[in-house]
Amino acid sequence: MNKFSIIFPAILLVFLFSCTRKTNELKPISIIPQPVTIEQQEGYFEINKKTRIIYPIEKNAKQVAEYLKEILKKSTGYELAPGSSNNEKNTIILNITGKEELGNEGYELKIVKDKIILSANKSNGLFYGVQSLLQLLLADIFNQQQVENVKWNIPCCNIYDKPRFPWRGMHLDVSRHFFPVEFIKRYIDLIAMHKMNIFHWHLTDDNGWRIEIKKYPLLTEAAAWRVDREDMHWREVTPPEPGEEATYGGFYTQEEIRDVIAYAAQRQITVIPEIEMPGHTSEVFAAYPELSCRGEKLYVQPGSYWPNTDIFCAGNEDVFTFLEDVLDEVMELFPAKYIHIGGDEATKQEWEKCPKCQDRIKSEGLKNEHELQSYFIKRIEKYLNSKGKLLIGWDEILEGGLAPEATVMSWRGFQGGIDAATQGHDVIMCPTSHCYFDYYQGNPDFEPLAIGGFTSLKKVYSFNPIPEELNEVQSKHILGGQGNVWTEYIATPEHAEYMSVPRMTALAEVLWSEKDDHNWESFQVRLQDQLSRFDQLNVNYSKGSWKVNIFPIMEDGKYKVELESEQFDAPIYYTLDGSEPLAESDIYQSPLMIDGSTIIKAGLFVDGELQEYASEKEIVFHKGVGKNSYLKEPPSRKYPARGAMSLVDGLKGSDNYRDGYWLGFQGTDLNFEVDLGKEETINTVGASFFQNTGNWIFMPERVTFEILDSDKKMIAKNILIPDATSEVKGTIIEDIKAEFDVIVGRYIKVHAKNIRTIPDWHEGAGSKSWIFVDEVVVE
Ligand code: ACM
Ligand code: ZN
Repeated sequence: MNKFSIIFPAILLVFLFSCTRKTNELKPISIIPQPVTIEQQEGYFEINKKTRIIYPIEKNAKQVAEYLKEILKKSTGYELAPGSSNNEKNTIILNITGKEELGNEGYELKIVKDKIILSANKSNGLFYGVQSLLQLLLADIFNQQQVENVKWNIPCCNIYDKPRFPWRGMHLDVSRHFFPVEFIKRYIDLIAMHKMNIFHWHLTDDNGWRIEIKKYPLLTEAAAWRVDREDMHWREVTPPEPGEEATYGGFYTQEEIRDVIAYAAQRQITVIPEIEMPGHTSEVFAAYPELSCRGEKLYVQPGSYWPNTDIFCAGNEDVFTFLEDVLDEVMELFPAKYIHIGGDEATKQEWEKCPKCQDRIKSEGLKNEHELQSYFIKRIEKYLNSKGKLLIGWDEILEGGLAPEATVMSWRGFQGGIDAATQGHDVIMCPTSHCYFDYYQGNPDFEPLAIGGFTSLKKVYSFNPIPEELNEVQSKHILGGQGNVWTEYIATPEHAEYMSVPRMTALAEVLWSEKDDHNWESFQVRLQDQLSRFDQLNVNYSKGSWKVNIFPIMEDGKYKVELESEQFDAPIYYTLDGSEPLAESDIYQSPLMIDGSTIIKAGLFVDGELQEYASEKEIVFHKGVGKNSYLKEPPSRKYPARGAMSLVDGLKGSDNYRDGYWLGFQGTDLNFEVDLGKEETINTVGASFFQNTGNWIFMPERVTFEILDSDKKMIAKNILIPDATSEVKGTIIEDIKAEFDVIVGRYIKVHAKNIRTIPDWHEGAGSKSWIFVDEVVVE
């Protein structure tokens, strides 16, 4: 073979290869979270081995440049050399400007064929500009190894961007399960790529103390370790055997903590430490039992500890000395201006019995144990303030009176946040309904075991941290929101990733992008590109729920049934005769007209295969279905179903009260009315009620059914008392049905009286009770 015959095919191959380089040239720009404005222009800037970078010498800006260089080097193999002049071609310029409206975190990105100019007031903004820049490239840019045959093109465009909220957080509980530093950094990387800026590190709780405190070595020698019960269900663990070694756990040394904080700072993330008090502290009493009211030496809990009765003694001065010493070391380590002190779920029964705590109540002139908690938190706040730090606590710190400067993290719903903002306090919203990423995100039958609940991706995307109850001034106190990842049921980094993303992606857009720019369909499309980025990073993200939701709607005054799923672009096939859906069944295109009782079964199909399982709902027609209906008082924001119409949609709630069909009322009654449209004969009117007292849901005290004629004159009334008493454990669904001797009427009213206050024997005594109701059946 002559030389030419070798060289020519080689040249041809190189030529063909370069022609087939992967490119983003036909892809639309897809950035998550959605920027304020993007204007795309003709052409591309191409990163190649001659591309240069120019950046300010200021330390933080330099760190951003280093971060960009490192990512580009990994996947492209190019080491960007420093440029010498802003006029040089093929240059990326990071530029600190003084454009007030951009704030600390906004940025502007101008990309033309031979230059990229990224401008911001601060390194924070530069960092977010870099995140957008990376998302303008193919997802391969995130690969951890050098990728060949990719054209590293960036579409010419102008982007103007800044965040909606200053607090865009993710939390991680490392007490219930310990996660190594390597994962903490990976989690921080995920937070950073979402333009989020807070990592809330839940460092202490009943299942292990995770931060080295030099003055109290037993915290990490004893309180960080528990006996290994990882093979058991969290709620069914057995206590330590005599002599059994505590081998499960771990902690972060102060050096590791400094390293994590520095790593986060390079990514513009502030690390907020949480040191729990006065409750959720039983692990401390494995090391220093004298600090609890009972003074008994405990073991570190290897699983569920509930009710969590052991608590710091609020009457013992040594407790405050201990906490101030601990906080001194924490404040020395963490540069953040906030310290989170927990404050949630502090069970007060030991305080009620403890002579020292009772003495404190007397000497301080406090009314009760709630005020004692308030005394405790205020005292800690004063200490933190004296060192120039601010206190954050969970919304329970409102009980007994808020500490003067405290910021409230509202988790039990929105109300705590509303109350705090109304009192002029700053608030971070993280209600369980939208922000608890330890809850299920898909059908529990097909998901790893979780703590319960149901917070789907779409639910997270629907989160609005600013409740309507707040006026403009009060709304300014809502700093933002945060996703919480509690780890009772999450033992590995892979599982923590699975629970966190892509719900973190939805939350990031909620918190970064303006409300008017939130658009579920657009998000779903852009999410596909984000998932490609996760693939490059080997992130174990959740593929989401393969569930078809079956919901009735009223469209053009007609009752119809809508089938929807959170899966992007997968067709839904359905049947109406009770048979299993197949790829040959009808494909769903628009809401279905239904005019009689039927069973709907529907599933998602990919390549002709049913995914996971088909959803199923029975629609039972009765005289009320699809008729105009009203609720005098709205249901709880947490359990609104689809409002009044859900009570006359022919669909019954399941044995899960969170399924979206049940309406929940907390502390208030059900007052419902349906208009049959004309006078009809009526035999019976019934309604279903749900009870699960463990979840604070009780049967109503009584249910009143009234029939009214066309002039709204009452013509019959029936009052019924549920059979189920509140002593019955577990879930009961009771159909309460009033019989009428054939009567002719048009309007029907249903009033269910809530018992309103949880009875004394119950752990939630004194709090507002729930009632849950579904289908009002008229026959
Ligand atoms: C919490 O979930 N106990 C704050
Ligand atoms: Zn005490």
